[in-house]
Amino acid sequence: MARIVILFSGRGGNLENLIRKLGDKAGIEIAAALTNNPQADGIAKAQALGVKVLCVPHKEYPDRESFDRALIAALEPIGPDLVVLAGFMRILTPVFTRRFETINIHPSLLPLFKGKDGVKESFESGMKVGGVTIHRVDETLDGGEILAQGCVPILPTDTEESYRERVHALEYELYPKTIEEILC
Ligand code: GRF
Repeated sequence: MARIVILFSGRGGNLENLIRKLGDKAGIEIAAALTNNPQADGIAKAQALGVKVLCVPHKEYPDRESFDRALIAALEPIGPDLVVLAGFMRILTPVFTRRFETINIHPSLLPLFKGKDGVKESFESGMKVGGVTIHRVDETLDGGEILAQGCVPILPTDTEESYRERVHALEYELYPKTIEEILC
């Protein structure tokens, strides 16, 4: 049985989708979710689906490395085979990334448009396509090995919001599929 833990910070759309799509797959166990934000909307979503949520508030730690050590201490008893970032808005240091195999989903065609505004920057780029990338997490920002990508057309009739909705729809398809490929 492969154990995964999902890390999130906010509304938890991908979190909820992953629990729904992977929760009953043979060979995969969603052992827990973890957030750095005690106010995250995703907490209630995970709990409603029967997944235990751990909270490690980053504000209680003086620097990134000590926060990462607290994350490791929370996850070690669970022993995840894979850590899945789903809207987790903290940069992890090598303290964490060298301890656990970790992947992330980013809402652009990396290496274009790294950082927190991937959807907006894709939409405003003048390009005809944007997309979604799933990548390994290392100490670089959105820079680890690319595992999967998908394209989303940027239509002349799109608003940023209508484009964003299609990006999320692709995320919800591609992330569970890629995780299954990695684990099974
Ligand atoms: C997603 O667009 C994901 O690609 C990015 O953060 C966003 C999180 O959205 N890393 P949600 O919390 O999963 O709804």
